[in-house]
Amino acid sequence: MRETVHVPLGARAYDVLIGPGLIAESGALIAPLLPRPRVAVVTETRVASLHLAALKAGLTTAGIDCVVLELPPGEATKSWTHLGEVTEWLLDQKIERRDVVVAMGGGVIGDLVGFACAILRRGVRFVQLPTSLLAQVDSSVGGKTGINTAQGKNLAGAFHQPSLVLADTDVLATLSERDFLAGYGEVMKYGLLGDAVFFEWLEGNAPAMAAGDMALRVAAVKRSVEMKAEIVTRDETEQGERALLNLGHTFCHALEAATGYSDRLLHGEGVAIGCGLAFELSARLGLCPQEDPSRVRAHLKAMGMKTDIRDIPGDLPGAEALLDLMGQDKKVVAGTLNFVLARGIGQAFVTSEVPGDVVLGVLEDALAGN
Ligand code: GLY
Repeated sequence: MRETVHVPLGARAYDVLIGPGLIAESGALIAPLLPRPRVAVVTETRVASLHLAALKAGLTTAGIDCVVLELPPGEATKSWTHLGEVTEWLLDQKIERRDVVVAMGGGVIGDLVGFACAILRRGVRFVQLPTSLLAQVDSSVGGKTGINTAQGKNLAGAFHQPSLVLADTDVLATLSERDFLAGYGEVMKYGLLGDAVFFEWLEGNAPAMAAGDMALRVAAVKRSVEMKAEIVTRDETEQGERALLNLGHTFCHALEAATGYSDRLLHGEGVAIGCGLAFELSARLGLCPQEDPSRVRAHLKAMGMKTDIRDIPGDLPGAEALLDLMGQDKKVVAGTLNFVLARGIGQAFVTSEVPGDVVLGVLEDALAGN
């Protein structure tokens, strides 16, 4: 039950391995990359308590020594402070230009460690060992690395591709149901943006996948990674098409900002709600069939996920304020709001020609529960 997706980026090409048991085999899989049998592992304490022993055992089996840095869990770790800490720790550990760093964790660790590796000695190779569903299907693949600044999320960073990604689907069993389903928001996004057959497959199979079926988990992660790899290969540095991966994200970023990036709304939950809103907006603009937004929302409901803005606990600002927060999104180009809209399920496209009053109407109705 092991799958490989190749990301064909020339000199920066790499494989994404997907399946159960990869951490146990990590040593044998990483060994071919190493000039000497030693790696530096950066992880966070929660992930370490669950998976570090298995990783160390996997490395030891192949005769690889490791040094380990454990950071605090949570989004606040994606900071200048921890970037400095990781970079200087790697230097203290005498990690050389040809050595390999292993990033084990969710998106926070992958983004932070990837960025540290991009700047360390002007570029050191790293292996992603993503432990959340979101990281397995999105953030560990494609080379976006970075940290948050006082001005916003992911505003300092670099494109730095990993040399290998090991998406061990056994670790998904250690996620809370909420975290798993939040990651599922990104899986569903791939069907909605470019593969109607995959979306239909998810409508039939995602409940059993969420309940634990390993073959379905491997298949869903594989198709997601394949789609990401295809898009990233055509547009590595997001000059155009890669922005499709941001389906649902303009609404999501406004909702995340409005909820203070707190536990009230996880990123993947915001993406899921945002996908529903992007289809609603597309339908109102006469771009996609009227029934598509209902189909997206029906699937989210069937998965037991947050579906509507009103499913977010606590108070939210009004529609005008949310629209304002959408304008802060870093994908704003020369003042116009870039949106990912859809001509139907599996047919997303990027546009900047979205009338603000229609967006406002979508937000007003969503807040009112219409
Ligand atoms: N997560 C969006 C991207 O990698 O482009």
